[in-house]
Parts: sequence; C-alpha cells; structure tokens
Amino acid sequence: MRKVLVAGATGYLGGFAAKEFKRRGHFVRALARAPRKLDYLKDQLDEIVEGEITLPESIKNVCDGIDVVFSSVGLTKQKGNLSFRDVDYQGNLNLLEVARKAGVRKFIYISVFNGPNLPHLAIVRAHEDFVDELKASGMNYAVIRPTGFFSDMGQFFDMAGKGRVYLFGPGNNRINPIHGADLAVCCVDALEGEKQEIDVGGPEVMTYREIARLALEVQGKRVRITSVPVWLMRLIIAATRIFNKHQGELLAFLTTAMTSEGVAQVTGIRTLKEHYSTLKENR
Ligand SMILES: NC(=O)c1ccc[n+]([C@@H]2O[C@H](COP(=O)([O-])OP(=O)(O)OC[C@H]3O[C@@H](n4cnc5c(N)ncnc54)[C@H](OP(=O)(O)O)[C@@H]3O)[C@@H](O)[C@H]2O)c1
Repeated sequence: MRKVLVAGATGYLGGFAAKEFKRRGHFVRALARAPRKLDYLKDQLDEIVEGEITLPESIKNVCDGIDVVFSSVGLTKQKGNLSFRDVDYQGNLNLLEVARKAGVRKFIYISVFNGPNLPHLAIVRAHEDFVDELKASGMNYAVIRPTGFFSDMGQFFDMAGKGRVYLFGPGNNRINPIHGADLAVCCVDALEGEKQEIDVGGPEVMTYREIARLALEVQGKRVRITSVPVWLMRLIIAATRIFNKHQGELLAFLTTAMTSEGVAQVTGIRTLKEHYSTLKENR
C-alpha cells in the first residue's frame, strides 16, 4: 500500500485514476480547488484537501506523508485568465517543489502523445517543459503520454447529434483514442513499473473520418462530414490568436492532432462504439 496524492481528481482522467489507485489498495488523498466537485467520489477517497496549484501557499502541506504524486492537472478548456504556462508548467512545478520537500518518492505525470516533437504548440510546450523540470529534479518519475481521451471524442458525438461533423483537414490520419478507465490502469501500473516514459493509446486504431461516421451512426444520422481545408484552418487560427490567444492555441493543437498520425502502444478493452452507445442511452 502506498499513500498517493491525486491532483486533477475533479477532471476526466483524474477521477478514474483516483478510483483505480483505491481499487488496488492504495491510500488516496485528492487535491481539488473545488472539493464539492468530488462529492460523487468521496466514498472512494481517503482524504480530500483543498488547494490551487497555481498558488503555492495553498498547497504547501498537501504532500505531507505522501509516497507518490499523480498529476493530471492541466488546462483543457478555457477557464479564467490562466494560461497553459501558468497551470500545466508552473502549477505542476509548484506541486513538484512541495513533493520534493516532503520526500515524495515518485511523481507520475500526464503529458501528451508525441509531446517532444511538438514544441511549437503552447499546450504541449508547457507540458514538456514541466517534464524537463521533473527529469532534472532527481525524483523518480513516470511520464505518460496518451493519445486522445474518449472525453474529447465526445465532441464528434455532439456534432453528430446536430447532423454534421466538421473535421480539420481530410480526416485520413489515424488515432487510437483511449477510455479514462483503461488509461487509469496504465497510470497505476506506472507506480510500480520501471519504465519512465510511456506512450499509450486505446484498443482500436481509427481514422478521424471513421470516428465521425461512427458518431453519426450511433446518433442515427445520415453521413454528413465536412472537411475544413488545412490552409483555411491556418487562417482561422491566425485570426483567432489575435482576439483570443488561448482559443487560438487550442485550435492549433486540435488541427495538428487531426492532421498527424496519433497511434501509440495499444492497450485497454473499452471501445469507442460502446462509449458512444452509453452517451446515447444517457441523453
Ligand atoms: N483530453 C485529452 O484528449 C488529452 C489527451 C492527452 C493528454 N491530455 C492531458 O491530460 C491531462 C488531463 O486531461 P483531462 O481530460 O482529464 O482534463 P480535465 O478533465 O479538464 O481535468 C483537468 C484537471 O486539472 C485541474 N485544473 C485545471 N486548472 C487548474 C488549476 N488552475 N488549479 C488546480 N487544478 C486545475 C482541473 O480542476 P477543476 O475541476 O477545478 O477545473 C481538473 O481536475 C491534461 O493535462 C491534458 O492536457 C489530455
């Protein structure tokens, strides 16, 4: 049994990771800036502590008595004025500093698949600059670089519900997206594992066009897919960056993801069709 701090438990992956650490017999302390978001999970957590990782003073004791820190904290949607740099890099660095002082033995961190090759994207740069700090810290670590999560594949499902799916580029590139529960298994395996850099994706390799078709099929809609040409996306990204830098960076990331191969080591058992069918039943 290890004492694990889960930072990011209010998010998609962090919630599954907290449950998986607990299921395997570990003690789980969850860090949240809005602890009420964890009400649904509190029976499966040993402790909940309140703190905001961009404010070092608020987290100074969170690692006391902790053996392993897991962090899936990252800015995935636009919230307030914080940047990727503020949260993904500096916030996680604040947490690393607290962990180091408290004598934590291992830090498990979630970056992005292919991260080291995409330094021009602000979101990826922030993640990978933190990874560099983690490697230099001398602490034992595991960096997990997953492909797209099923939560993000929900965007295709939502568009399909409205009758048309928009793709950035032709949609011929492949990805093996992964369910949070499957990825959580891999994250908890990393606790005992020796591997320090882990690329991981889900069990099915599909093109973005196939994902769009699947979403439309499960929604019971005719196949209507529109490809936005890459040159047009570049113009849209440049214009968006002028008015909303953060949104522009997110669009740049999504366009790069959809126009490059995103296939990592295959793992897991949950399929996207099952996921979309569950979404359909619950709406
Ligand atoms: N989604 C994907 O397809 C994908 C693919 C590869 C890698 N990743 C990376 O994996 C990580 C987890 O993704 P996810 O989909 O689980 O994200 P998510 O659902 O948005 O969860 C993000 C977590 O970070 C926390 N957070 C954000 N800003 C914070 C701040 N300023 N202070 C404290 N906590 C903060 C959130 O807390 P609140 O609930 O309080 O906001 C939440 O717990 C991210 O770093 C993401 O970049 C995601």
